[in-house]
Amino acid sequence: MLSVLARAAARAGGGVPTCLVRPVVGVQLSIRSISHQEGLPKLPVPPLRQTCERYLAVLEPLVTEEELEHTRALVSEFLRCGGVGERLQRGLERRARKTENWLSEWWMQSAYLDSHMPVAVYTSPGVVLPPMHFQDQQGQMRFAAKLIAGVLDFKRMIDSETLPAEYLGGKPLCMDQYYQVLSSCRIPAPKKDTVMNYGSGKGPSTHITVVHNFQFFVLDVYNSDGTPLTVDQIHMQLEKIWNSSLQTNKEPIGILTSNHRNTWGKAYNNLIKDKTNKESVRAIQKSIFLVCLDAPMPRVSEDIYYSKVAAQMLHGGGSRWNSGNRWFDKTLQFIVGEDGSCGLTYEHAPAEGPPIVYLVDHVVEYMNKTDRVRAPMIPLPMPRKLRFNITPETKKDIEKAKQNMNIMVHDLDVRVLNFCHYGRKYLKSCKTSPDAFIQMALQLAYYRMYKVCCPTYESASLRMFKLGRTEAIRTTSSESLKFVQAMDDQSKQNTEKLALLQKAIKVHRDYTHMAIHGQAIDRHLLGLKMQAIEDLTSLPEIFMDTSYAVAMHFNLFTSQVGSKTDCVMSIGPMVPDGYGVCYNPMDDHINVAVTAFNSCEETNATKLARSLEEALLDMKDLLIQTPKPKE
Ligand code: COA
Repeated sequence: MLSVLARAAARAGGGVPTCLVRPVVGVQLSIRSISHQEGLPKLPVPPLRQTCERYLAVLEPLVTEEELEHTRALVSEFLRCGGVGERLQRGLERRARKTENWLSEWWMQSAYLDSHMPVAVYTSPGVVLPPMHFQDQQGQMRFAAKLIAGVLDFKRMIDSETLPAEYLGGKPLCMDQYYQVLSSCRIPAPKKDTVMNYGSGKGPSTHITVVHNFQFFVLDVYNSDGTPLTVDQIHMQLEKIWNSSLQTNKEPIGILTSNHRNTWGKAYNNLIKDKTNKESVRAIQKSIFLVCLDAPMPRVSEDIYYSKVAAQMLHGGGSRWNSGNRWFDKTLQFIVGEDGSCGLTYEHAPAEGPPIVYLVDHVVEYMNKTDRVRAPMIPLPMPRKLRFNITPETKKDIEKAKQNMNIMVHDLDVRVLNFCHYGRKYLKSCKTSPDAFIQMALQLAYYRMYKVCCPTYESASLRMFKLGRTEAIRTTSSESLKFVQAMDDQSKQNTEKLALLQKAIKVHRDYTHMAIHGQAIDRHLLGLKMQAIEDLTSLPEIFMDTSYAVAMHFNLFTSQVGSKTDCVMSIGPMVPDGYGVCYNPMDDHINVAVTAFNSCEETNATKLARSLEEALLDMKDLLIQTPKPKE
């Protein structure tokens, strides 16, 4: 999930790499993955005319007839024989022949690394796990120890290349992202960030970072013979960390990572001028992952518990609470609160949500089946505390970052809806696609609030292709608009409403099919634009048109991230007056997380969540009450 096209990124990551430390830009695959990866097709460049025609169809429900007419003329000029469109298309096709994936580098740059916005709230998703049944430090340590052991077990599958390949619609998926989530970190810079992976080579990382009360520790998680520490051993080490970080008056150095990227980039350069600081920062960057042992958050009523924890996962609750107990550049940060709240946040540049929740599913399964293994009584060295020398300049940077974080915390409106009336099992029994049905419910919920439809983005996987990331499914269509308009129209019969719903669902399914097969419009349009930039020619007029600006302003930024675990992912909105909506359709219920910005008067996460709940209930009534046509 990115944020605008200006919020995402194009990386071309590696499989099991052979160099010690490498920027994530090429693919180096293990023997085993070579056969899997090499069998994957390359991402195609869709035909130019097809994309242009589909673009015009996408605009229909979104712009005025006058705007559309103007855009038709621009598109026709763009498509002119021997014109700019053809030239850019040829450039793209050349690029596709020469690279493993014509899009991945551009995507990494434009969607993630070029963005100066903070990663916290703006691009890094959070995942909320169900509340754990502990309320104290002992429970927190035990849980964290098991969780760490579970992630190391997952790492074992990656290292030994025994991670089973995934499939979508019977087709094998690119597994590259799995090799990017551990031992990697985003590195800030005043101009442009990079992502580094420290996962292998001669000295692969063998430690994790643990942070408690804003104090960072290196915890070696392997014995000298290469075996991972047992749960009991990890537990013992965590207790040592906990006991040597009881003071709560430490500077929250980690909060620096939550600032705007260029601000953090400058502060980073200051910070690492000091040798001790540089070594400490490198230890965090190189670690396999980070574990945040969070202080308890203020208690809240049960109905907003998940919403509060979702916010904690996205930003940590502010400088008074746990926002300094993070290193937001780190790709994977697991969060375990003393009050039983737990989940994770991840930096989005190297990977998408599905591999992350797959890892979560594995860890949860591991934790449920793991029995205690008694540790051999070999004394383990004390985990190393990372030291930071705070200069007055860095102190000022920390204060600025605290202020910025507190503004973000106040601005983010989060509401988790645990929709418990039905789930994917019921929808499948009605012979309907759960994903398309939920997307239509979102369209209805939005339309009921605003009486218009809006550009809607749903993430679709491009992992059928080598190094594939995501494409956008454009949910709003002329058909979805007809359905939402009809739904509350008293003059319409249920049979007509149902027929319109089914038509809209079919259009959505067709778009999904097109997107996952690399034939949708958004990445192709981005490619044409990037090609023009690379050719140093002026940007074609279709990209400077009002319709284009409207089409790219995704007021609804949505994503299905399904998992076996009863969890939900959350993401920030893509635009200031928009919503971020993530959902996990479970068998008998649906978890949804909605976000919006409080600074926008028109948006309200709770209202959209309620409207969605009503829409889902009304649409179920429509299914039940409408007689089925005879087969
Ligand atoms: N009748 C009965 N069952 C149906 C049906 C119908 N008409 N249509 C679909 N189903 C079934 C499917 O077969 C599937 O069954 P399964 O769970 O047994 O496999 C199930 O319903 C779910 O299908 P559906 O709800 O249609 O969604 P999907 O699984 O095809 O997912 C996307 C659609 C777009 C979410 C998926 O293709 C995708 O790309 N996911 C990745 C998104 C992503 O990367 N997000 C992260 C961004 S950070």
